Amino acid sequence: MKKILVTGSLGYLGSVMTAYLQQHGHECIGYDTGFFKDCLFYESATTNTVPRDARDIEAKDLKGIDAVVHLAGISNDPFGNLDAAKVYDPTRHYAKRIAEMCKAAGVKFIFASSCSIYGIGGADLVDETSPTLPQTPYSLNKLQVEQDLQSLADKNFSPIALRFATAFGLSPRIRFDLVTNMLAGMAFTTGKIVLNSDGTPWRPNVHVLDICKSVKYAIDSNHNDGTLLVLNVGDECNNLQVIDIARKIQARIKGCELKYLKDNPELDKEGLVRDRKVKQGVDTRTYRVAFAKIKKVFPGFQCDWPMDKGVDDLVSKFESLPLTEALFKNKNFYRLQKIESLYQGQYLSPDLRWLKQAA
Ligand SMILES: NC(=O)c1ccc[n+]([C@@H]2O[C@H](COP(=O)([O-])OP(=O)(O)OC[C@H]3O[C@@H](n4cnc5c(N)ncnc54)[C@H](O)[C@@H]3O)[C@@H](O)[C@H]2O)c1
Repeated sequence: MKKILVTGSLGYLGSVMTAYLQQHGHECIGYDTGFFKDCLFYESATTNTVPRDARDIEAKDLKGIDAVVHLAGISNDPFGNLDAAKVYDPTRHYAKRIAEMCKAAGVKFIFASSCSIYGIGGADLVDETSPTLPQTPYSLNKLQVEQDLQSLADKNFSPIALRFATAFGLSPRIRFDLVTNMLAGMAFTTGKIVLNSDGTPWRPNVHVLDICKSVKYAIDSNHNDGTLLVLNVGDECNNLQVIDIARKIQARIKGCELKYLKDNPELDKEGLVRDRKVKQGVDTRTYRVAFAKIKKVFPGFQCDWPMDKGVDDLVSKFESLPLTEALFKNKNFYRLQKIESLYQGQYLSPDLRWLKQAA
């Protein structure tokens, strides 16, 4: 058994990960500032989480810890009058600071990076050696943190960056701003799937539980060669065009219609489907990812969740709740809308520190 500190433990991934790691024999403690602490989609076992901003982690917090899994971060676009640097620079600084403390204390550091740093890939599969072309401040931030980790790596420190594909699947703190979850929720509650692009962009996808599995393998791995180990996390069977995801959902939710936002702007009154990076139905972010390296480096690792299985699991949960349109559109399940509302309500400062606790 190892003792693991998970930052961002009350997020979409963290809410599943801490329980997963505990079930797999590790002791877990979580730190989270709590932007989404009250955003439960369904009840689940409580996580052993300390309300704590990642900026305030100190060396003494790492005493007795074997590995830090660093999930804390901001995954949405900047909003209001905040520019990207204001939102992302602090996340880069605290990732580096925590990594430095891990290095000094001999603690393993596992970073939640993203396949989105490939940006525009074309027809060929991109692998860990391919050029990166981040298309958003979010993706650029992930790349910069990887570069910081690379510069920290030496004979005493061998961090791991896991480049997760786009996540899908159930979590007690579900996100409906992720493509598969959004399209499935929309189809279930409205009988329609509204695509914000023409559906042709390629995206790699990975189930939440396969992400947890990759983290477990990273914790157990003996990577120790003084370099940053970079691994794509996912499976080639889940490299899909957005239209393919929609069709898989249509196969599970019979009779739901497919619509394009460009032709039907009235179908997105709440602005939940719109994406500022998609112009006139064209989304330039398209890439297909190779996942051979993770299987080689982590012998025995494989993903257990093809898209159809994950969609079936999601929709079964929607049926049992049941998921209503009002619940699907609740801002608690959309990162940008939730954090923006905390900011507009003056619960958060411009640097996303709490000014007062939300009621
Ligand atoms: N979900 C995906 O598709 C995906 C894909 C690739 C990478 N990732 C990365 O994995 C990580 C987790 O993703 P997620 O989907 O669970 O995100 P999330 O936004 O749901 O959760 C992030 C958590 O971090 C916390 N947090 C933010 N700033 C903090 C701070 N300063 N101190 C302490 N806690 C803080 C938030 O309260 C939240 O609970 C993120 O770094 C994300 O970029 C996610």
